[in-house]
Amino acid sequence: MIKLAPSILSADFARLGEQVAELSAIQGVDMLHVDVMDGVFVPNLSFGPLIVEAVRRHTRLPLDTHLMIEAPGRYFRQFAEAGASSLTVHVENCPHLHRDVEAIRELGLQAGVAINPGTSPAALEGIVEYVDKVLVMTVNPGFGGQRFIERTLGKIARIRAMIVASGASVELAVDGGISAKTALRVRRAGAEVFVAGSAVFGHPQGLAAGVREIREALEAL
Ligand code: DX5
Ligand code: ZN
Repeated sequence: MIKLAPSILSADFARLGEQVAELSAIQGVDMLHVDVMDGVFVPNLSFGPLIVEAVRRHTRLPLDTHLMIEAPGRYFRQFAEAGASSLTVHVENCPHLHRDVEAIRELGLQAGVAINPGTSPAALEGIVEYVDKVLVMTVNPGFGGQRFIERTLGKIARIRAMIVASGASVELAVDGGISAKTALRVRRAGAEVFVAGSAVFGHPQGLAAGVREIREALEAL
């Protein structure tokens, strides 16, 4: 099933509750993506559990929480209590990835692992069968509105093959530079969950038009 996850990183934070409620009423929005950044693992700061808690009051959609922070395990419980539905950690900064994934699952949440553009898919071997989702970064994490890195298409296909070979039920998500222009090629490479920030929040005709455009592009397959 193809899913669309608008990223609230591109929201108007002064109107966050309103925009979250608006998105929740739009057909074709399956979850909301929440980007947590610490200014250390990535060169930008965003927000933490307080925003997850605030967003949770305005939607019933799953909150897909992407942790771009050092030692993310320190905060799993806080994010779970704030209302996150899934927690995704990066393979690059988690030496005990299996332990982290188990800890997320024990809190009753879905567990994901994210992989940066410069990291080999081999980093996922040994963990892929234990996770609910793999998040392939199609830009370098840290900022919304960056250009999609074309060379990640081959990697998405390789990771899709790895998931199929594992026999496990693992969702393949992509994050960064997803728009009506790039979405179809990414789907063809094997992705099924599409995170999109600026293409949704920056659409000149509004959020519903942003969602519709990406959905239409994906359906052209
Ligand atoms: C980037 C974040 C993304 C970001 C995507 O570090 O992980 O989720 O919001 O933004 P766009 O869709 O604008 O590339
Ligand atoms: Zn993200």
